[in-house]
Amino acid sequence: MQKSDLNKENYLEQQNYYLNLIAELMSVRKRGETPLAFIHTYGCQQNVADSEKIKGMLSVAGFDFVDKPDDADFILFNTCAVREHAEDRVFGNVGALKTLKRKHPQIMIALCGCMMEQKHIAERMYKSFPFVSLVFGTHSLQNFPELYYRALFTGKRVYERDNDDKKIYEGIPVKRDGTFKGWLPVMYGCDNFCTYCIVPYVRGRERSRKPQDILNEAKELINSGYKDITLLGQNVNSYGKGLEEDITFAKLIGEIDKIPGDYWLRFMTSHPKDCSKELIDTIANSEHISTHLHLPFQSGSDPILKKMNRHYDRKKYLEIINYAKEKIPNVSITSDIIVGFPGETYEDFQETISLIKEVEFTSLFTFIYSPRVGTPAAEMDDPIPPEEKSKWFRELLSVQEGIAAKRCASMVGKTEKILVESVNEKNGKLQCRNSGNIIVECEGESSLIGTFQTAEITEARNWILRGKII
Ligand code: SAH
Ligand code: SF4
Ligand code: F3S
Repeated sequence: MQKSDLNKENYLEQQNYYLNLIAELMSVRKRGETPLAFIHTYGCQQNVADSEKIKGMLSVAGFDFVDKPDDADFILFNTCAVREHAEDRVFGNVGALKTLKRKHPQIMIALCGCMMEQKHIAERMYKSFPFVSLVFGTHSLQNFPELYYRALFTGKRVYERDNDDKKIYEGIPVKRDGTFKGWLPVMYGCDNFCTYCIVPYVRGRERSRKPQDILNEAKELINSGYKDITLLGQNVNSYGKGLEEDITFAKLIGEIDKIPGDYWLRFMTSHPKDCSKELIDTIANSEHISTHLHLPFQSGSDPILKKMNRHYDRKKYLEIINYAKEKIPNVSITSDIIVGFPGETYEDFQETISLIKEVEFTSLFTFIYSPRVGTPAAEMDDPIPPEEKSKWFRELLSVQEGIAAKRCASMVGKTEKILVESVNEKNGKLQCRNSGNIIVECEGESSLIGTFQTAEITEARNWILRGKII
């Protein structure tokens, strides 16, 4: 493994130099035709935002993008390590590229992202898939041009990971997937080390972008017509730690909210241990911050929360929720839940059920616990068999279905501001969202996509609303 020689002070110029070399090389190889890339992203919005940077860099090198690997000169999978299922899909999908590579040996296949920051996985990938030419982890994103050029020019396999130097690299070009919904990372990494979670190991320590850089990017997005902007971080509530500026996440989002324009601001993810009243007050008093709070609680049982190293208990969680409900009218609350954490009993699980009944979440992201190599929970006793966990999981889904349906039904007759997002190919209706992030389906012209409208809610279908644009 040869380490890259990233120039940390002058990385933009240095990496631009490599992008130009790639452009020249590809132009010769393709005899002037536009080179094509296929980028497939697994995992969370952090990965989506990283892929937008990779696309930004490739655009500078003259690439266009395709949505099938078959036509591409460069294929990249940006991977996620959060659960075993996510990793299995990557192994399967990369394996399936073998035939394509045999047919078209000039294609370059690359892997990056969170899975590649795990030594045992990156090595397994490298060994199992000799047709993969380039492997790099999340900390090497900024020197992607150099790594790609090296693989292209030498024809040798390039493998780089574990280059964490805690620096933030501003100014990398971004090619956004959307024209009216945009991601805006405010911080990277995580210091929380929840005992089940791999993220701190693959994304490194928490580091915050400077407020001015974030404000500039927010202005740029708003001025170019973005209507729905999501501030991203693994734990946005601890934004600002280690910065010279005296700033909190609540202050930051409050500052962004002052930028004039017609847009919504969202953020994810909030950690309950750091979710301040100041933040809730800021949402309540803001002009643009959506009335949606995604606040993962993971488990309703205090002993399990302790074993998860979450640093809050059920009482503290409910306090924040009740404060939010009191201050933000009709607030829409969503959450993440893990079922079957090691040592969880059916009684513990019932505490989760009782909590979801009490809070009445709009929707939930529910996961069966998946052991991750290197995390403390993977070493804990886990006596409950998978079939039993699946049974609990189904129980959770069915309880939540009733709650979501009731919540949606209570909205019938209300008038809501909605953002028109797409056309639902199945029924031809416009797929829209309200400020609480609930889907609202309406009749209407596709020319409305990307605009705000007002709709009267006419019907509730489980967790989806139907409405009439007025
Ligand atoms: N930073 C965010 C979540 C990041 S991961 C937060 O703290 O809320 C997204 C979700 O995946 C987590 O909220 C958790 O519910 C789930 N998750 C993480 N690790 C998991 C594991 N090992 N098994 C099952 N679910 C997991
Ligand atoms: Fe993982 Fe916990 Fe960090 Fe979220 S806060 S990314 S669950 S360690
Ligand atoms: Fe997955 Fe990495 Fe996100 S592990 S959930 S893509 S931070």
